[in-house]
Amino acid sequence: MLARTLWKPLALGAACVALAAVAGLRAAPTPGPEVTVYKSPTCGCCRKWVEHLRAAGFSVTAHDTSDLDAVRARYGVPRKLVACHTAVVQGYVIEGHVPADLIARLLKERPKVAGLAVPGMPASAPGMDMPSPARYDVLTFDRTGATSRYATR
Ligand code: CU
Ligand code: CU
Repeated sequence: MLARTLWKPLALGAACVALAAVAGLRAAPTPGPEVTVYKSPTCGCCRKWVEHLRAAGFSVTAHDTSDLDAVRARYGVPRKLVACHTAVVQGYVIEGHVPADLIARLLKERPKVAGLAVPGMPASAPGMDMPSPARYDVLTFDRTGATSRYATR
């Protein structure tokens, strides 16, 4: 009799512990690769690109700066590839509106390049988000300024 009355609360208690464990996992997901972004404080499309990276699971720290030329010089971004923001992730340099899935591919494949760039600001790139039939290339680059196509979007 006593055993029977005790059983239900114990089962409920166990269920609560299991639920709490699931909730705990949800509250603290594994942090994605850390990305440091340098951008102008007034750039709306930079902010939207940061959101795009966060939505893809990257752990982003954004720094506002009015001297992006100095940042690009420090990280060796070739002048012809200049866009609106520069980011660094696991030793690679990301210039412009590079799609998050291609950054993930870069980190997986680890090619011998300095980084990836989407020069200028193509309308349909993530963070720009303007419907456009125009496609754009995502390029790898090295410190000599040599580029090659990594993907077309
Ligand atoms: Cu932009
Ligand atoms: Cu930007």
